[in-house]
Amino acid sequence: MTTALDRFQAAFREEHRAIRDTLLDLGAAFAAHDLASARPLLEKTAALTGPHFRYEEEAMYPALVTIFGEEYIEKLLGDHDRAIGAARRLAALTGQERLTDQETSEAIRLVRGLLPHISDCEGLSIMVERLPTERVQAILAARERAQGENLDLLTWATSVRTRPAAEPEPATRP
Ligand SMILES: [Fe+2]
Ligand SMILES: [Fe+2]
Repeated sequence: MTTALDRFQAAFREEHRAIRDTLLDLGAAFAAHDLASARPLLEKTAALTGPHFRYEEEAMYPALVTIFGEEYIEKLLGDHDRAIGAARRLAALTGQERLTDQETSEAIRLVRGLLPHISDCEGLSIMVERLPTERVQAILAARERAQGENLDLLTWATSVRTRPAAEPEPATRP
């Protein structure tokens, strides 16, 4: 019998895989100076991460406070703040007609900066195993709601999310 936990873990891992693969393709597109490919890949990244980040923040991260305490959950939310800031900057860069070498390096660095949160976040799955079934069901319900509304990352960040995005490090800016 498939449990709520099984369903959650399978879905969560598939989402991280899809985000991982899209980010790796996006980094490769920037490295190849292929802005025409980078644009739809950035849109795909935003489409995949919007509902994913949303249900994490609305249900999963709050549930994990009982295990990790507030401090680490704040770190995870900070990762999202920085990811949103990076996505905004990447959107500005892909909106340009072409990128300088410096801008290309910046874009690659921004994409790489997003990767550790994906693997860190996948690791949270082992902690979700210790949550009561009702909490796991609540996470799945929040996931369904987020997917139903289907807001991309930047739309969600400006229309629903209340935390401010974090600007990328000035050192990465030209
Ligand atoms: Fe996350
Ligand atoms: Fe995640």
